[in-house]
Amino acid sequence: MNIEIIRTPSELRARAFALRAGGERIGLVPTMGALHEGHLSLLRIARPLCDMLIMSIFVNPTQFGVGEDLESYPRNEESDLAQAEKCGVDIAFCPSPEAMYPSGYQTALTLPTLAAPLCGAKRPGHFDGVATVVSKLWNAALPHVAVFGEKDFQQLAILRQLSLDLDFGIEVLGGPIIREEDGLALSSRNVYLSQEERAQAPRLRQGLLAAEQRYSEGATDAVALLSAARAIIDAAPLARIEYLQLRNATSLAEVQEVTAPTLLAVAARFGGTRLIDNLVLHPCPPQA
Ligand code: PAJ
Repeated sequence: MNIEIIRTPSELRARAFALRAGGERIGLVPTMGALHEGHLSLLRIARPLCDMLIMSIFVNPTQFGVGEDLESYPRNEESDLAQAEKCGVDIAFCPSPEAMYPSGYQTALTLPTLAAPLCGAKRPGHFDGVATVVSKLWNAALPHVAVFGEKDFQQLAILRQLSLDLDFGIEVLGGPIIREEDGLALSSRNVYLSQEERAQAPRLRQGLLAAEQRYSEGATDAVALLSAARAIIDAAPLARIEYLQLRNATSLAEVQEVTAPTLLAVAARFGGTRLIDNLVLHPCPPQA
């Protein structure tokens, strides 16, 4: 394998400084491993935008809540590295938890407004952990550009704000959601689904599309759009909706009427597995 593996933030930072000094443009795609086509699509977006492509693999303990799947989260470094290499990754950053959070570590970051709704409301502290680890990854990899998936729309919004707020000056790009043929968004957690749950999981996407259809037919109020989505999702007996909401696509403020780009986001449990999905409704420009 030709891919270079680095395991401590200080080594990566030294490498990144040298790359920058040589005028190289650095791209970063952070992941928690268990790579699928969703992750690989981000590598393909980043590859032509940089000279050196860094991918991180780190199952970040600070973004998992009590009772979540930190221990059972799928891990397979060897096959991840082989896939990353095929997508043109130059450096894989694979630190241990101790390398990232040595004893005595205590700093955390909070974005109180953007992290409050949606997944932030259901997973207290989750986005503090994400913002903190991504800051550490940015400080180690010193990227010019970093790419994240729109599947985790709230995460992407938070990380764009983080780059601005803390003057990282990193271009934060979003990549579209990659799906199975039946519409289910790819996720490392899909492997937890039973056969029956897997069969019903595409209802999430179908519900979102039903709302989008109502919107294209002229409905703009939240009650009509959300009830169109809910009817489809509720028809899956194993789905338990955690949230189904319309939010301003930039501020994530709640929306009663779609007049600007609006996020339609859903989270639902199928048994013990929590799945999320979303789409953005775009108002049509007024006809000339
Ligand atoms: P992870 O869940 O491994 O996801 C890594 C990246 O892949 C994220 O930017 C996520 O949005 C993106 N992704 C996941 N599924 C996708 C899909 N179906 N289509 C497109 N992109 C997809 O998100 C995290 O890790 C962590 O929170 C991390 C940012 C690495 C910080 O620990």
